[in-house]
Amino acid sequence: MEQSPVIKFFRGEQIPLELHKVRVVQKLNLVPIEERLKAIQDGGYNTFLLSTRHIYLDMLTDSGTNAMSDRQVASMLVADDAYAGSQSFDRMRDAVEQVFGTKFTAPVHQGRAAEHIIFQAFVKAGDVVPMNYHFTTTKAHIELPGGTIEEIFTDEALKIRSSFPFKGNIDIAKLRGLIKKHGAAKIPFVRMEASTNLIGGQPFSMANLREVRKVCDEHKLILLLDASLIGENAYFIKQREPEFRTTSIKDILRGMCDLCDLIYFSSRKVSSTRGGAITTNRQDLFDKVRDLVILFEGFLTYGGMSVREIEAMAVGLIETQDETVISQSPSFIKYLVEKLDARGIPVILPGGALGCHVDARGFLPHVPQAEYPAGALAAAFFLASGVRGMERGTVSSVRDANGNDVLADLELLRLAVPRRVFTLSQIEYVADRMTWLYENRSLIGGLKFAQEPKVLRFFLGKLVPTSPWPEKLLAKFRKDFGDSL
Ligand code: F0G
Repeated sequence: MEQSPVIKFFRGEQIPLELHKVRVVQKLNLVPIEERLKAIQDGGYNTFLLSTRHIYLDMLTDSGTNAMSDRQVASMLVADDAYAGSQSFDRMRDAVEQVFGTKFTAPVHQGRAAEHIIFQAFVKAGDVVPMNYHFTTTKAHIELPGGTIEEIFTDEALKIRSSFPFKGNIDIAKLRGLIKKHGAAKIPFVRMEASTNLIGGQPFSMANLREVRKVCDEHKLILLLDASLIGENAYFIKQREPEFRTTSIKDILRGMCDLCDLIYFSSRKVSSTRGGAITTNRQDLFDKVRDLVILFEGFLTYGGMSVREIEAMAVGLIETQDETVISQSPSFIKYLVEKLDARGIPVILPGGALGCHVDARGFLPHVPQAEYPAGALAAAFFLASGVRGMERGTVSSVRDANGNDVLADLELLRLAVPRRVFTLSQIEYVADRMTWLYENRSLIGGLKFAQEPKVLRFFLGKLVPTSPWPEKLLAKFRKDFGDSL
């Protein structure tokens, strides 16, 4: 039963109210700032290289870190262990069909595995993939067989402060221009990413998806949907697109999927475990990926997942249709974003899915982009708070053929808000420490690489500060907060 989570308060406050209760908890550590400095130094100023031993709130990602529901946990106990023909897979396939409306489904061990298979199957050297925006693993997997990406977002997409509700839209004129320039034969598909991750979890509208579909039909192009954050995109359509104000999330989800030919997703964002899937109603498309799933992932009824994960994913998918579930993370994000904005801290507006995105260039105008302001802000915020965010800027980019950094469009510190994990007082703590850091932003300096991997360097790369700014920040923290943690 879908319940609308609109709850009005007597005194008019806007407080996101939890429609769940906590039944299993995990103890957290808030270690002193001196230990945090040692931890971030040892981790090469890269938050991926921190241990949760030193982390208070882990806002690195919502991937594999959402809280599971009692029903998800219960489902894991009735999993059906079998290499082939597992009933757990039947339940997952049925859940996918119920949510996405698609009949043919192949499980994979996570989202990038779906990308690996789809782009191996469909992309050849010289191909071009138009999309609203790339995700790191998507770009890497399209470039592996020799393809390139073309991002055809609208003029609003990269603006930090905006009231435009659908920054994830594709610019239709640019899409037509690209097809004219390259020819449809060079375009294996048009890719739409739900709640576009790297530009701040920003959704596209149903109206835009319909227009993209129309162009695809005119040129017989395949429309590919990255549905990893589709639930939140559906929620934003309901919130922001007048036509859908009274439509159920379930029907919006089906409406989106009915417009697409081929869909894949990482279920790490849905069910908190491993997993993902490729799904379609087109037998011809399914046949192209099926054998590769067996080759790289495992048999078609487990695809690299455990049956327990498959069960939790099936239940998690069904729960995505419930507005009380899907609204929780975006409403906490909205609360945090609006609080920071009211204090003058530059954040991406409007608030999107997945997390709060702080604009590091606006926060640290004195740190040149070549010294990785988003990386520096991520390290400084960990130092100030014990909260781990993720750099989403030039550290997450690549170098060109001449060895120069390809500067990112946006320098963001992402503070992910996994579903149903944090309390509002923890969100208040994040806002408090971010406000302190903003007041002391002039103390923060840049970073430079000390060790730099060639592929997806942001995961394992190590950096060092360009001056002893972390020690200065620590001294100021002690001065302002005394012996506080
Ligand atoms: N597509 C999108 C839109 C994603 O956000 C992710 C992962 C993937 C594909 C890859 O999926 O991790 O299961 O292999 N996003 C995570 C994040 C990693 O932190 O934003 P995966």
